[in-house]
Amino acid sequence: MKCRNIKLWFLLLMLVLALSMTAHPSGGQTLDGRKPLILPAMMAAHQKQNMREHLIAVQEIVAALSTDDFNAVEQAAKNLGYNEAMGQRCNMLGAATPGFTAMALNFHHTADRIVDAAKKHDRAATMTALSNTLTTCTNCHATFKQTIVDEQTWQRLITKSGE
Ligand code: HEC
Repeated sequence: MKCRNIKLWFLLLMLVLALSMTAHPSGGQTLDGRKPLILPAMMAAHQKQNMREHLIAVQEIVAALSTDDFNAVEQAAKNLGYNEAMGQRCNMLGAATPGFTAMALNFHHTADRIVDAAKKHDRAATMTALSNTLTTCTNCHATFKQTIVDEQTWQRLITKSGE
């Protein structure tokens, strides 16, 4: 009887250990389970700076919409929209992080729809396009989180993925 109890406890202990091991974040993930956006410190600081500018653009769009100033909506939305320089920047930022650049480009192309709707002075379509754009922001935030690496590691990673 006693012996059976010990066996049972042992089995239970193994089960708990096995479960706690699978629950641990594995390599290549951040503590909260998001994927790492791998960047050297300088680029990471720039990326966050871009982000704060994006939030300012969103604020400007909402403010302009509240007074039906579609010209101002269009100007602010252009700061979120796609252009070649923006595309190059997104390519650089995602150079060591598979999947990041695609999400970033999709975000900028989605923001182009805000510009289109504002040009037509279509309030409902502008709101819909803004909402769709914000969904691309939140999707990316749910997926990626910065992880800083030193310059040497960065160089090694981008030459490897460029092969
Ligand atoms: C392709 C991915 C992606 C998209 C799209 C994106 N972000 Fe981000 N954003 C990030 C990452 C990664 C961080 C850094 C998170 C971290 O590590 O703390 C970030 C951080 C931020 C921050 C915090 C900046 C700071 O100083 O800490 C703000 C604000 C922000 N994003 C706003 C936005 C807004 C607004 C949009 C859309 C209009 C947007 N982002 C779209 C990836 C993205």
